[in-house]
Amino acid sequence: MANAIEIRNLIKKFGDFTAVNDVSFDVKDGEIFGLLGPNGAGKTTIINMLLTLLTPTAGRITVGDMDVSKKREAAKQMMGLMTQETVVEADLTARQNLDLFAHLYHIPADQIPKRIKKALDEAELQKFADVKAGTFSGGMQRRLGLVRAMIQEPKLLLLDEPTTGLDVQNRTTMWARLKDLNKEGTTILLTTQYLEEADELCDRLAIIDHGKMIALGTPSEIKRIVGAGRMLEVIVKPEDVNRVVSLLKARFELTASVKGDRITAALDRDGESEFTKISAMLDHEKITVLSIGAHLPTLEDVFIKLTGAGMRDASGEMQGGRMTNIRWR
Ligand SMILES: Nc1ncnc2c1ncn2[C@@H]1O[C@H](COP(=O)(O)OP(=O)(O)O)[C@@H](O)[C@H]1O
Ligand SMILES: [Mg+2]
Repeated sequence: MANAIEIRNLIKKFGDFTAVNDVSFDVKDGEIFGLLGPNGAGKTTIINMLLTLLTPTAGRITVGDMDVSKKREAAKQMMGLMTQETVVEADLTARQNLDLFAHLYHIPADQIPKRIKKALDEAELQKFADVKAGTFSGGMQRRLGLVRAMIQEPKLLLLDEPTTGLDVQNRTTMWARLKDLNKEGTTILLTTQYLEEADELCDRLAIIDHGKMIALGTPSEIKRIVGAGRMLEVIVKPEDVNRVVSLLKARFELTASVKGDRITAALDRDGESEFTKISAMLDHEKITVLSIGAHLPTLEDVFIKLTGAGMRDASGEMQGGRMTNIRWR
């Protein structure tokens, strides 16, 4: 398969600070590729270098066989973009927003009305065509932002945190639309802070933290980093955490990670009996167990394993072993 994007040894320094630290990955034609990482990881900086809005300190970026530093305009013309900050221009109406981008991307004048109509239909904003986008709800702005990014019908779509701040319903709508666009042939590179979003949408993803890429692969490949079996999860009183970690090591040879009062450890592929024994042991040691369970490895388990325990203050909740909208910060 051909590569839509190739990024090689990309580095970006701001003074002494390295925001992007030797990142390399490919986005294949036809896939949805995700850059997953917490705030400040370097995601937007990478997108800005792709768009030639920032000049890399070192490294190479190719879009559709073109070195973006040499073929700036041609490369930009191939990419649709929805940025993180200005999703849409607030002082312009929906129609004016679309018209602006149609002109920016040099769409022939006789085709513009047709394209705008199609975009308004797709975003279900026909009734709001002549209303200022600044008055729109978050979900409406995002829908407009997406069809605006697609106005020149690019083969490649870049989305910087397309669903951050959206409620669950609008997020689900956005996911469905992105999957449709992808099925229709659009290659997508998106950034996200949401583990669940990366898992749901991406064919492959890279996890980045502090400018460094710490994992790359399909969601299932990445999850296998923590093991093939289930993850044990125990919540105990704060004063018992260290003791439980020691007991898991001494009695079961398990290396546990701790985040707050939550202790996790990868069980063997056949974790059933181990799980039962651990429960019995905690009971026998008279440790008050606030919660105990086992779940399939999640991307969060991977992140904790790779970056060390307690590095992020996740505010997510586990529901029946499934993560819901976990954010790192
Ligand atoms: N123009 C800039 N000057 C100095 N530091 C910057 C600049 N842009 C971004 N940074 C820093 O680089 C790091 C990565 O930022 P960014 O790419 O925006 O992260 P993300 O999009 O993953 O949240 C952050 O620590 C940020 O403060
Ligand atoms: Mg960003």
